[in-house]
Amino acid sequence: MVITIDGAAGVGKTSTAKEVAKKLGFQYFDTGSMYRAVTLYFLEKNVDFSSMSEVDKALNIMKLKIDFSEKNNMKLLLDGNDISLKIRNQNVTKNVSAVSAIKSVRTLMVGIQRSVTQNGNFVVEGRDIGTVVFPDAKHKFFLEADYDARAKRRMADFMKINEVININEIKEDLIERDKYDSGRKLSPLKKPMNAVIINTSNCSFEEQVDQILKNIES
Ligand code: DC
Repeated sequence: MVITIDGAAGVGKTSTAKEVAKKLGFQYFDTGSMYRAVTLYFLEKNVDFSSMSEVDKALNIMKLKIDFSEKNNMKLLLDGNDISLKIRNQNVTKNVSAVSAIKSVRTLMVGIQRSVTQNGNFVVEGRDIGTVVFPDAKHKFFLEADYDARAKRRMADFMKINEVININEIKEDLIERDKYDSGRKLSPLKKPMNAVIINTSNCSFEEQVDQILKNIES
């Protein structure tokens, strides 16, 4: 079974999806980290991602592995190395929207997302999970929050990896990324049909997890 949680950056998807998965005994699956991993690979290998032939060549060589062996954790291995922390840096964050808008990148990622979830129970978070990847999922959620709340969350994420960044810069980046992620032609960020909307601006973490669990139970 797959439960989908979609929403923009900083709305609290990751922490919520992790906790919901933990409470239900499901596996947590963060699809944004896959697009980040591809972005890191392109940056490290100097792949010109405006050239589709270079992109396709790189995607054929790249060895991306998802490790679900730890309960309630997901690790990403790129060419055998754990890149779970590296994919959170600012350079990856700045470039990931452009990389995730490339058709061959999305086709490859969506194929992997569908195949690894064939057996088992997953809480899958992303942007197009309820709309494109699993449109028939029984339980779909869409998280929203205002820019101030989202920027504060993102700031806390950067502090965890010791990156110092101004909150206004984060807000501008979020606005820019929203424009890009919602406006792109392929699988734009939008509320999936039949999804339950949860606004996380003013509710506590426990409340947002609770709303999701109650909805699934009912
Ligand atoms: O959730 P995140 O910030 O780690 O996601 C990184 C980027 O990946 C985000 O800018 C949009 C993209 N993304 C996507 O296009 N589709 C998904 N299912 C998940 C993320």
